[in-house]
Amino acid sequence: MSDILVHTEAGVMTLTFNRVGKKNSITAAMYGTMADGLAQAAADPAVRVVLIQGDVTIFTAGNDISDFRNAPKSEGQPDPDRPVWRFLRGIATFPKPLVAAVCGPAVGVGTTLLLHCDLVYAGDNAAFSVPFVNLGLVPEAASSLLMPRMFGMHRASEALLTGDPFMAEAALEVGLVNRVVPPAECNAFARQQALKLAAKPLSALVETKRLLKGAQHAAVVARMQEEGAVFGRMLHEPAAREAFAAFAEKRKPDFSKI
Ligand code: COA
Repeated sequence: MSDILVHTEAGVMTLTFNRVGKKNSITAAMYGTMADGLAQAAADPAVRVVLIQGDVTIFTAGNDISDFRNAPKSEGQPDPDRPVWRFLRGIATFPKPLVAAVCGPAVGVGTTLLLHCDLVYAGDNAAFSVPFVNLGLVPEAASSLLMPRMFGMHRASEALLTGDPFMAEAALEVGLVNRVVPPAECNAFARQQALKLAAKPLSALVETKRLLKGAQHAAVVARMQEEGAVFGRMLHEPAAREAFAAFAEKRKPDFSKI
């Protein structure tokens, strides 16, 4: 079965992470499937809302670390045709409502993708984290721009500099999450909300979202590119190589000489 399930019903396209054995970590192929789904959903008038969800135990452990380890060296701006870039651009500029249901860990892009969603529901077991620094990396998905705006500078700095997880109630307090529900009800609740939106006039939803977010698209995409250039370089520097090796060897990284 595919690692991303794509299902459209009653005007709602649902993208479900389906790689639970690897904690729903996201490979290039999975980014590609999600990017294609978003492009199709944007173009198809029969799709009015997209819902992104995971499993009751895990949303996603973020980017597949083996993919990070094997990433080719890149100079300057990231290749815009790479699946991860198509996905990030896709969620950042998606014209219709995006809803997310998050249970369990939401690591790295699992948290930063939520900054681009319109409604986010969390199980009370949700644990959000952006541990880029711990991997010798920098923020992505324009999180260095959007997290301070949403969380306030000090809380964004704490999340991004320490990489420590914060739980659903803290995410509710900073406005990352709309509502916290029991994990077993989370996907169903988010689906109900998505269906509620799908029954509304699409043109009014699209124009409202454009008024809410359209003005920030250029700044968001520019920040993603700026982050991406640094991220692509740092993937090959000693700190990241040590972090990836440590993850593969199931040990703590040793940054003492870096
Ligand atoms: N990339 C690739 N594989 C991953 C992964 C990732 N991001 N996250 C987890 N996995 C794999 C593990 O290697 C393990 O595989 P194995 O069974 O073949 O050894 C399997 O998923 C289970 O992971 P495990 O760490 O044992 O699960 P856990 O319940 O103890 O912890 C997490 C769950 C999400 C807290 C932990 O897996 C984690 O921290 N993952 C890395 C997150 C990360 O740094 N992502 C990058 C963000 S930029």
